[in-house]
Amino acid sequence: MNILAVESSCDETAVALVRDGRTVLSDAIASQVEMHTLYGGVVPEIASRKHIEAIYPLANQALEQAGLTRKDIDAVACTYAPGLIGAVLVGVNFAKSAAFGLNVPLIPVHHVRGHIAANYLTHPDLEPPFLCLCCSGGNTLIVDVRSYTDMALLGATRDDAAGECFDKVARVLGIGYPGGGPMDRLSQGGDPKKYALPRSKVDGAPLDMSFSGLKTAALNLIHNSRQKGETLDLPSFAASFAQAVADELVPRTMAAAAQLGYGKVACAGGVAANSTVRRALEEACARSGDRLYLPALSLCGDNGAMIGAQAYYEYLAGRRGDWSLNGCATRSIDLG
Ligand code: KG4
Repeated sequence: MNILAVESSCDETAVALVRDGRTVLSDAIASQVEMHTLYGGVVPEIASRKHIEAIYPLANQALEQAGLTRKDIDAVACTYAPGLIGAVLVGVNFAKSAAFGLNVPLIPVHHVRGHIAANYLTHPDLEPPFLCLCCSGGNTLIVDVRSYTDMALLGATRDDAAGECFDKVARVLGIGYPGGGPMDRLSQGGDPKKYALPRSKVDGAPLDMSFSGLKTAALNLIHNSRQKGETLDLPSFAASFAQAVADELVPRTMAAAAQLGYGKVACAGGVAANSTVRRALEEACARSGDRLYLPALSLCGDNGAMIGAQAYYEYLAGRRGDWSLNGCATRSIDLG
């Protein structure tokens, strides 16, 4: 089954063709990063307009790269939640029109479920159940993946997402947008114990996280050192920050994994590309005996292939969108 999959929830327009949920035939992406860099963050209205410009040529490009024609498309899928609503709606309306025009089923996909499915593309042997840490620019969740389409939310950030924190700190350091990649490169060789940064604890909800205190403490450290005319040891600052993020994410993930006892732990989303988080998960899983599944670096960020992968399993479970399908800015992952 060939699924044409569309992703437009933030600042990447992406269209992919995926066969039977596991084989990527093409994965075309048009990034808007250059445009949003001018503003130091995503400008939602600009994102929507850029998606409109990019999506149709990108779909043709995806077909061409796959060596397929429109007649070979068996279903059309799209991210319909969560995301920047104007941006999501561009993909939803494109997918609705394409499915209507081609007379094929329409499959709505939850964006974070798509991130989880990036692991099916990287690891052909991975099947649920497993525990997944989902950490990106907009979401930070610990998810019990009971089956391909039955998921339960075990823990989540109470405020900022992990990726958002990397972006805000990087912006104040002036090292680029989005900031996660530059912060990761800066941290190489730094001393992760040099700067003291806080770790959070949410009373009564041990698997929930908080990143706003960490973000504020990191920003204060930068501002205070500037005001005093001191020079921060930037690699050590970035390494200390990355370690603090990993300390929020990894122990909670491992506690949830131990509770469930599946023996399988996965990670998903843009922050799954972070070298400190990856290493911390590797070390923790080596200690616990859980098998670790990390997505290929190329599939950590937003892409269409992951939406096509999840769409196949949503289709098998009977999920269909109709012509009244709407986009949602927020939606819990367990609702699909
Ligand atoms: O998954 P993604 O592309 O978009 C969302 O669905 O949100 O994630 C983007 C986020 C950004 O905040 C970006 O800074 C972060 O992922 N990111 C990283 C790294 N690469 C991307 N964060 C930490 N370390 C990285 N290497």
